[in-house]
Amino acid sequence: MADLEALLGRRLAAGFEAVAGEPVDPLVRRSQRADFQSDAALGLARRLGRNPRELAEQVVQRAELADLCSRVEISGPGFINLTVAGNALARLLDRLAPDPRLGVARSPAPQTVVVDYSAPNAAKEMHVGHLRSTIIGDAVVRVLEWLGHTVLRRNHVGEWGTPFGMLIEHLLDIGEAEAAHELSVGDLTGFYQAARVKFDSDPDFKERARRRVVLLQSGDPISRRLWSMLVGESKKYFADVYARLDVRLTDADYAGESSYQDQLDAVLAELDALGLVRISDGASCVYPAGFSNREGEPLPLIVRKRDGGYGYAATDLATIRHRLTDLGATRLLYVVGLPQRTHLEMIYETAREAGWLVPPARAEHVGHGSVLGSDGKLLRTRAGTSVKLVDLLAEAVVRARAVVAGKNPDLDPAEQAAVANAVGIGAVKYADLSTDRLKDYVFDLDRMLALDGSTAPYLLYAHARIQAIFRRAGAKPTTPPPVTIAESAERALALELVGFAELVRGVGDTLELHRLAGYLYGLASAFMTFYEQCPVLTAPAEIRASRLVLCELTARTLRVGLGLLGISTPDRM
Ligand code: ARG
Repeated sequence: MADLEALLGRRLAAGFEAVAGEPVDPLVRRSQRADFQSDAALGLARRLGRNPRELAEQVVQRAELADLCSRVEISGPGFINLTVAGNALARLLDRLAPDPRLGVARSPAPQTVVVDYSAPNAAKEMHVGHLRSTIIGDAVVRVLEWLGHTVLRRNHVGEWGTPFGMLIEHLLDIGEAEAAHELSVGDLTGFYQAARVKFDSDPDFKERARRRVVLLQSGDPISRRLWSMLVGESKKYFADVYARLDVRLTDADYAGESSYQDQLDAVLAELDALGLVRISDGASCVYPAGFSNREGEPLPLIVRKRDGGYGYAATDLATIRHRLTDLGATRLLYVVGLPQRTHLEMIYETAREAGWLVPPARAEHVGHGSVLGSDGKLLRTRAGTSVKLVDLLAEAVVRARAVVAGKNPDLDPAEQAAVANAVGIGAVKYADLSTDRLKDYVFDLDRMLALDGSTAPYLLYAHARIQAIFRRAGAKPTTPPPVTIAESAERALALELVGFAELVRGVGDTLELHRLAGYLYGLASAFMTFYEQCPVLTAPAEIRASRLVLCELTARTLRVGLGLLGISTPDRM
């Protein structure tokens, strides 16, 4: 509805079609030269062997643009530059103002989407890779839900691997009570490492651990109970991290590796019946097409190991089959670090060959890069161990408190703490989400918490600033008064506001969350300029009313947009 780009595109498309006698994509996009530009005349002219400038002239003559554009200009070899009329922008904002969805339509073809994210490993510390997966996955879930899709969150916790043999044996050595204590205070690394040391140095222990895995996997009740205790304590710890992060992962979303155990035999049998399984070195393997090692030999996915055990790949095969055939999902998203790309692509290809993954269903790896320390290497503590997530988050909140106190010393302590929490966690999330997820980024709290630039504090401050205007303005009108756009700063802000819907739709397809972050930064910057150049509360009544609508739309777009990124927006800062 407020979809200006699409609207201009349709009008130009009609002009192009009239001139070319066939449909032409006008390729309208935002522009530095004017508000929007279309370069489609160039390609078309080449194809038709005509002069591009002349062709562009004819297109704009045939396109109906008068009600939308104050200026239409052909420049260079045949670019069409469009300047949108203030009046047209004002009418679009009039329609946006009463719309709780800010112009973002629900998808006309809602899908069932499974989002696999977070997926830490039980009895192990969550590391910063899991932080990224959790933050990105949460934002993906929020965007797709807002677009009207049915989203199933799946936390594919690693709790079924061979380490559980050694972990259970270690638990028996130190006693259940002590184990419960260590795990509940979040000393997962200490617990894991103690088990590991024994495993590596004591052949006796190693043998016990090996036998324990077999017992566990064959359903031995005592092993199962101890295993549940280990997993249960880890889950409590994960839940604490999720609560601090304010992400929407609940107990109901846990579907750990073990939950697919009873399907593994059937999966192997099915793959075998399809002729996809070959025995190599005693192990049952599938060789999905298109994957080979450096020597050019086909790469195997090991479904069942030589000792009869099932591993990570088997579980992922059962998982993808379940999501497609039992859950009926048509879009499968795996928010997992880039190093697992090949593994996942092999799972998808096997699922295709098995006939589980068939169009329109598709599987996508929503890959992400790593979090680096200031030395440009993977983030570590000074002692060289991996950084505890809770420590990072706690520090972000402490540092945010100083930022908030500096900005607004008059907040009462309880509100200050709540605001600091929103700013600190928001800063960590925003820094992550505003980076192209395929890239690595440096975890730098100073930069994340800066009040200038593309940071959460800058955006949250812009939002809080607008709330302060409302507090001074008094009662809000029940029906928004008409908007007028006269000043260039008003125009610039309006152009940003009408672009939100198109942007969110695009993010729903590409899952490029950094585009949403970048958009919100552009919006906040346009607002700040507007606010410097255009007085709101002291303006004459009609202009004041119109500018308050601009303020309200900006605040709401920031709130909804940051909300889609999982960032909450306090009213004061
Ligand atoms: N637990 C795994 C890890 O920590 C991530 C699991 C990702 N999801 C999946 N279906 N394989 O690396």
